[in-house]
Amino acid sequence: MKIQTTTLPTKPCYSQFDGNDWEILAQHWYPIARIQDVSTQPQQVMLLDIKMALYQLENGNIQLVRDICPHRGVPLSKGWVEGNEIVCPYHGLSFGEDGKCTKIPAQPDLTRIPERFTLTEFPVVLKYGLVWTSLLSQDATSANFPELDTWEQNGHQAILPPFVDIGGSSGRQLEGFIDVAHFAWVHHNAFADRKNPVVPKYNTEKTEYGLKAEYISDVSNYPHGMQHLAPEGFLWKRTFEVYPPFSAVLTVDFPNQGVLKILNACCPVSHNKTRLFVPLTRNFDTTGDLQAVYDFNAQIFAEDQDMIESQKPEELPLDLTAEVHFEADRSSTMYRRILADWGLSKRYVI
Ligand code: FES
Ligand SMILES: [Fe+2]
Repeated sequence: MKIQTTTLPTKPCYSQFDGNDWEILAQHWYPIARIQDVSTQPQQVMLLDIKMALYQLENGNIQLVRDICPHRGVPLSKGWVEGNEIVCPYHGLSFGEDGKCTKIPAQPDLTRIPERFTLTEFPVVLKYGLVWTSLLSQDATSANFPELDTWEQNGHQAILPPFVDIGGSSGRQLEGFIDVAHFAWVHHNAFADRKNPVVPKYNTEKTEYGLKAEYISDVSNYPHGMQHLAPEGFLWKRTFEVYPPFSAVLTVDFPNQGVLKILNACCPVSHNKTRLFVPLTRNFDTTGDLQAVYDFNAQIFAEDQDMIESQKPEELPLDLTAEVHFEADRSSTMYRRILADWGLSKRYVI
């Protein structure tokens, strides 16, 4: 009998994702952590209900493995790094950079450690200050990574606020990010105004990577206290580029050729849990107070969070007849259609 050394993960039995949905989503790449938060102290992260241990070896390389010791199932995230190996805390087995077991302390005379003692490793790509991975794809070259071209561009400041944990699905969160009709209602304390709720007609088009929408309105992107900085009658252009399944880049054109870009990148932790990463860049105020950026960002996402965590059904209903839509929802409905065309299920549970 051939023994498989590393097994690709399958949907865990406790996962509430639809099985086919899980298979489709697991082919894609997602951010799971900020690079700056990775250290030689292993930590547990989760993607599509699969638990993984994330740590840095002493040679600086970042490792991501299934968080389960092949011996007796203890999470390796409870262990520690020694040199370029991780040690399991239960019986002290060590595993090298290639995932192979290098030491069984209870059996020092064992000449050949069987292949079955090997860890399942996941690929790692470092991009926009984040660690990205995929459960089933090994090929990052064909991945639909979002394009944040200003991240390492001269004149643009790259900012990476803390991540946000949301008790809602990534589909609902992403759709909320591209929803322009909620500004006046949800963000009236931050930048919008309940007296200005009208959404002017805008265009949405399908692209190779997903969809693009251009929205021009007089809704300022400055916080309320700074709105006098825009010239009278200034029109704000917001360009949304959606990279399904769960990333989108928003470009906001500010006065005086100012450009703000916000990448909304979801890690679908579970069917109703999302870890949201928001790398952003700007070419103005580049020496300004970062804490003010973090705070403004946190305020806006907290306002959204209250909506997303209370929506029912939790998962985005891809059957367009399940909810009602109006003209200003054109980006949302196109987004749902794209996901449905991928073969994601139209099932929804209230
Ligand atoms: S459970 Fe990991 S060494 Fe035994
Ligand atoms: Fe919002």
